[in-house]
Amino acid sequence: MHVLSLLVKAAVAARIVLATPLARSWDDFEVKHAWVDIPAGWERHSDAPPEHVLNLKISLKQDKFDDLVDHLYQVSDPSHPRYGAHLSKEDVDALIAPSSDTVDLVEAWLKYHNVDPDAVQRSNAGDWLSLSVPVSQAESMLGTKYSIFFNPSSSSFIVRTTSYSLPKAIHPHVNVVAPTTYFGSMRKMKTTSFVDPSIKAISDADIQEQRKALIDGLHSLAAVPSSCARTVTPACLQALYNTTGYTPQASAVNKMGVAGYLEEFANDADLQTFFQRFLTKAEGATFTHVQVNGGENNQNDPGVEANLDIQYTEAMTFPTPNIYFSTGGSPPFVPDSQTPTNTNEPYLDWLDFIMNQTVIPQTFSTSYGDDEQTVPLDFAQTVCNGFAQLGARGSSVMFSSGDDGVGGGSCVSNDGTNTVKFQPNFPASCPYVTTVGGTTKVNPEVAVDFSGGGFSNYFAQPSYQSSAVATFLKGFGTQDKGLFNVTGRAYPDVSAQGQGFQVVIGGRTESVSGTSCSSPTFAGVVSLLNDFRIASGKAPLGFLNPLFYSSGVSGFNDIVSGSNPGCGTNGFTAVKGWDPVTGLGTPDFGKLQAIVGAAP
Ligand SMILES: *[C@@H]1O[C@H](CO)[C@@H](O)[C@H](O)[C@H]1NC(C)=O
Ligand SMILES: *[C@@H]1O[C@H](CO)[C@@H](O)[C@H](O)[C@H]1NC(C)=O
Ligand SMILES: *[C@@H]1O[C@H](CO)[C@@H](O)[C@H](O)[C@H]1NC(C)=O
Repeated sequence: MHVLSLLVKAAVAARIVLATPLARSWDDFEVKHAWVDIPAGWERHSDAPPEHVLNLKISLKQDKFDDLVDHLYQVSDPSHPRYGAHLSKEDVDALIAPSSDTVDLVEAWLKYHNVDPDAVQRSNAGDWLSLSVPVSQAESMLGTKYSIFFNPSSSSFIVRTTSYSLPKAIHPHVNVVAPTTYFGSMRKMKTTSFVDPSIKAISDADIQEQRKALIDGLHSLAAVPSSCARTVTPACLQALYNTTGYTPQASAVNKMGVAGYLEEFANDADLQTFFQRFLTKAEGATFTHVQVNGGENNQNDPGVEANLDIQYTEAMTFPTPNIYFSTGGSPPFVPDSQTPTNTNEPYLDWLDFIMNQTVIPQTFSTSYGDDEQTVPLDFAQTVCNGFAQLGARGSSVMFSSGDDGVGGGSCVSNDGTNTVKFQPNFPASCPYVTTVGGTTKVNPEVAVDFSGGGFSNYFAQPSYQSSAVATFLKGFGTQDKGLFNVTGRAYPDVSAQGQGFQVVIGGRTESVSGTSCSSPTFAGVVSLLNDFRIASGKAPLGFLNPLFYSSGVSGFNDIVSGSNPGCGTNGFTAVKGWDPVTGLGTPDFGKLQAIVGAAP
């Protein structure tokens, strides 16, 4: 009743706005998002040229988004009668479509600015508008001034602003306008992996030991090869996570997707070399490259992140088809030339593309992230809502938790108070994704010290984890009080190995570490679980967290030692039960298979 009456009031309010003389209301600006300072790492270079063309994207308020979230939780909760009844693209489009009031109002505003309605591109659901406008026009629409900003460490330029506004009447109808205040351009996106020269590449003897484990088909953690504590290959992961005995059955339907961004290319030849060295039965297996929005596929420039992701998802899921989505952007802004700027923003283009597909992979892994505080709240909410849509469609979405423990660097807040605070990572902090932390060693596995973990300052704690988190906090007591937000969404949800992965890059085997190792590994196990569900005639798992935090708990190897220091503190400690270092633990495929097999 209450909600309904609010809706009616909102509708009435919107009509009243429409009835007022339009010209006046469009000059009545209210700030949509503003930074206190220029984001760290950037400096202002000069005014943006007024004639420079921006591709503006406007995300409109999705009329029934709350209903979409209700659907998401129902179809993801194994105790709900609708478990597994995922929505189709058409169902989701109907829920995320903007109301006609929203469309009318925003169109009237665009018309006031002489935007030709035919020049506006719309997403299928109508919730995204894109239009090309010169900087001068974007400035009058958004009550702002764009500048060219320079990043000395990457020698890159971008066109952004530190604040933008919208007419008051438009505010309740627009989620975010981009590019505006998000400085995390595609080229600056942070992968969560690093080549680790401190770990020597695997020796021939260790390769032999690990290969033998594959052939023997291990089923006991105690028998995992000891060399897996130093260097990790698919044999270690299959033994540790108990997938050795499983052969995928549903490869005609089940698919594994990896999302990569600009300048990261997965190399076909390296994948074959990787199989020759570490998984001979998969030799000849390939993957599909999908180029999103001008993404490239330069086979002469293999990327560490891309190769790591595809080599390990393929190895874990063979013979399941894998797809590498390479999301591109236009060239970066060069101040002295007339080249168009890189206005594409990470995630948005990829989400736009994937949501427009009728059939999408059942499992995704993405290994990118940045400090939550560097992502504007409106932008983060819009992207996070996109992941909720993927979950409602029946996809399981994994993200790496970050490689800075509870926070890297000085951990100073950018809200003007300059106080030290733990720095949560986004999208790891989005409640609609499954966030994967890192472990190392074997028998027992322990938390790896860089494993990102903590509490969001943007997203409230979802009920699926409230009891697990409360138990942890009770044990943690008052340590580091005030450095993290106890009511925020807590992560990671789960974990997997994250150190010393053997990756073939340009023909050479190198050791790579980071939670970028953990996310594709965990996603690989999920893909096998999806295979098992599909082969049994059931729906894929979709959004995993409600299952994992309830009946799923006993399907994990609980990690009970190690910590994730950062921000001048010892960080959090891995303990019995859930913790913000390793989540619920690492997967035991055999046990999880029984659990998801028992779910309807
Ligand atoms: C969505 O897909 C349809 C059919 O493939 C295509 O015609 C349309 O242009 C796409 N829309 C967007 C916004 O990409
Ligand atoms: C703590 O998290 C909540 C969301 O649960 C948010 O509304 C609040 O602003 C956060 N507090 C701080 C200090 O960031
Ligand atoms: C591995 O899976 C099997 C079933 O396939 C199960 O019996 C066993 O408990 C699981 N875990 C270990 C550590 O063997």
